[in-house]
Amino acid sequence: MRTDDTAAFDVEAVRADFPALDQEVNGHPLAYLDNGATSQKPRAVIEALRDYYERDNSNVHRGVHTLSERATAAYEGTREKVRSFLNAPSEREIVFARGTTEAINLVANGFVRPRLREGDEIVISHMEHHSNIVPWQMLRDELGAKLRVVPIDDDGALDLDAYLAMLGPRTRFVSMTHVANSLGTVNPVREIVEAAHAVGAQVLLDSAQAVPHLAVDVQALDCDFLAFSAHKVLGPTGIGALYGRMEHLESMVPWQGGGDMILAVTFEKATWNAVPYRFEAGTPNIADTIAMGVGLDYLREIGLDRVAAWEHDLLAYADERVRAIPGVRIFGDAPEKSSILSFVIEGVHAHDVGTILDSEGVAVRTGHHCTMPVMARFDVPAMARASLAFYNTRGDIDALARGIEKVRDVFRLNR
Ligand code: ALA
Repeated sequence: MRTDDTAAFDVEAVRADFPALDQEVNGHPLAYLDNGATSQKPRAVIEALRDYYERDNSNVHRGVHTLSERATAAYEGTREKVRSFLNAPSEREIVFARGTTEAINLVANGFVRPRLREGDEIVISHMEHHSNIVPWQMLRDELGAKLRVVPIDDDGALDLDAYLAMLGPRTRFVSMTHVANSLGTVNPVREIVEAAHAVGAQVLLDSAQAVPHLAVDVQALDCDFLAFSAHKVLGPTGIGALYGRMEHLESMVPWQGGGDMILAVTFEKATWNAVPYRFEAGTPNIADTIAMGVGLDYLREIGLDRVAAWEHDLLAYADERVRAIPGVRIFGDAPEKSSILSFVIEGVHAHDVGTILDSEGVAVRTGHHCTMPVMARFDVPAMARASLAFYNTRGDIDALARGIEKVRDVFRLNR
């Protein structure tokens, strides 16, 4: 579907571009509400994968033949698309990685590790995904650093005062989620970055749950690094990108060695290739990188402003519908919130909720959402989570509400 800025948002036309949405699950039309785990893919992305393998399949940066040149142009074309999507100053500041997790590990090992001294502090928050906790714990344990965790309040909002009080001369690095995957909290990332810079620390933003929903501009945010995964933003699994400020990338040591990341190799030594190739050892994930660019193009054509407005309305509707059901407890009520509705039904394990919803054709994620500390904070073993995308409708939310009523019926909670 093609739109211009003034066109109304035609959700049915959009849905027609997503083949997987058009199916029945357990005899019901699919209501796909697990977009925080992974988004569905538009036909253009699926076709880009097929086209690459049917027409251009060859290695990049390595051949002078036509297929290799075509593949290289398309692969490097995505670098420019990501640059423009994030408004980064240079496409050389875009490093391809397997996803957000690998990007965070690259920064932890390539940038933070060589700078970290015993007693230095790394600051994260209580609402982080495990992928933004564990790499820092590993560095802490190995190098004697400290991990400081910014608390969250009962609404799931960051305690900004506690964050500001935590910063000081020992703060070496701040790594913070942009939008929390289990609570939907949108963090005040501009203030977070500014305060960290004031004490000489650098900041990485985990924007995996932000880029599908909000316009992200790395220059306006002034962040040092920002990571996201393609599969949450209409693209394939196994690929994502890291934005890094050029001066930081230039100062970083490679994390993995191999082909393409070197200029010259002897048995005595190797010299590194230029940024960003120095961080992309081995034959890259060419097809998925190209398709990632097609997914970003699709989203831009729709327009993130239109996406945000649609999802905002849908989240308010979902909150109202689900909150009205007796026995439902919703988690995450921060003033700025995006696309996530996590809940439990009192007396029912979240996995049972998920199974019964599935029997009604409603797909949600259940469990700890890779955020065990959030579960501990709210004293529950697990939550059910509906996560929205711009192709969801009020009909999907109605199906969710009906499904929750069914759970209550099955567990005889409606009596
Ligand atoms: N991080 C993904 C989620 O929140 C998998 O579901």
